[in-house]
Amino acid sequence: MLLELPRHTEIFGSVKIHELQRVIKLDSGGFENPRACDITWDDIKSILKRLAIIVPVKNENLHLLDGVLRAIPFDCTIIVVSNSDRVPQDIYNMEKEVITSIHNLSQQEFISIHQKDPEVGFAFHDVGYDSLLEKDKTVRDGKSEGMIIGMLIAKSLGKDFIGFVDADNYVPGSVREYVLDYAAGFCMSKTPYTMVRLHWRYKPKVVEDRLYFKKWGRVSEATNRYLNLLISTCTGFETGVVLTGNAGEHALTTNLADIMEYSTGYSVEPYHFVYLFDTFGLKAEEILYPDAFNAGIEIFQIETLNPHLHEEKGQVHINSMLLSSLSTVYHSKLCNDHVMSELLDNLVDILRSWETPPQNVIMPPIGGIDADSFTKMLESHAETFTWLKHEGVMEGVIEEGYLTGKSVQSV
Ligand code: GDD
Repeated sequence: MLLELPRHTEIFGSVKIHELQRVIKLDSGGFENPRACDITWDDIKSILKRLAIIVPVKNENLHLLDGVLRAIPFDCTIIVVSNSDRVPQDIYNMEKEVITSIHNLSQQEFISIHQKDPEVGFAFHDVGYDSLLEKDKTVRDGKSEGMIIGMLIAKSLGKDFIGFVDADNYVPGSVREYVLDYAAGFCMSKTPYTMVRLHWRYKPKVVEDRLYFKKWGRVSEATNRYLNLLISTCTGFETGVVLTGNAGEHALTTNLADIMEYSTGYSVEPYHFVYLFDTFGLKAEEILYPDAFNAGIEIFQIETLNPHLHEEKGQVHINSMLLSSLSTVYHSKLCNDHVMSELLDNLVDILRSWETPPQNVIMPPIGGIDADSFTKMLESHAETFTWLKHEGVMEGVIEEGYLTGKSVQSV
């Protein structure tokens, strides 16, 4: 892959945010170019084998889920965490049929689990992580909550990298690119504490019967603006470096996943920045994680070649995402009166009876959880836990269109 080198890197305490890098070519020929970084297929492949892709899903069109799962490169393990309805129709069962069919044809490794399986809640309770549980000990609704389940499973598989892909993408080719972009980001990183966030080149919309290739949405524009203001008001120098505040499509090293805090639902992505600024930024009050402080945390922002075409969920959904995103910024330790009042102006139509944006639930780091016992509990007790292993591949020669040979055990 050929990627532009970042023109500038904002250094904010121990956090290094690289400026947006465009994908120049999805594959490349080893041409040496001082403005670009050439990443070989072998290097990308070596990352894919150590990468788990988590697909959170809630009642999405099965055709879309099918395309997304088929597009994720074979070498990655796919972990589907579903919060789909089970009555009156068992949508989770239908999702499992899609997964099983792809596994049977490809032998790709899959794990799937339902977020509301009571055993998932019990497993969290047993490992001492209650902050995502309801009173009845089931896991709360929310995309972020599903992501945490997936991350623990990925950890128990010994994965070094964890990525996320939404299940409602219309274009399988985009999904494949997203995963390759993650791998390319990890190839460029120089620290075990790395995050790769994607910025879509375009997000097409139908406007007056024509496709309009829109670049920015209202939520991401506002989130990026205020995240940048947090840095600018702290350093005294204006910056526009953050362009991926709401990046649902992102990946991180397991080392970084272990020390992050997570905000509930859709506020999870902007809160990544807020947490890193508050904990590792210029005004961090105590050194909580000396290894990460010394090694530094790198954030890569990659602009995809493919556009992002996904299900539109309506204005109420957008407003709630805007509110929860900006709330994370408002409650940052770095948010001063100036940023607060600008934020409130932006939210005036949405805040209604609240005087200030309500604080999102924050879930503590997962590093202290015994991920192996968590997954073992799911494997032995959870009715919805399915693990389709990469049992073997066919080795042989193709004769008249047929593969002849024996099935071999994979390592
Ligand atoms: N497991 C689980 N649990 N998955 C969920 C839940 C839940 O409670 N709620 C939603 N999901 C899944 C959806 O099915 C989808 O695959 C993914 O999470 C994203 O949810 P959407 O409802 O499609 O979100 P969106 O498209 O509006 O927003 C996405 O993009 C934003 C950036 O533009 C999300 O990824 C946001 O987090 C992101 O900020």
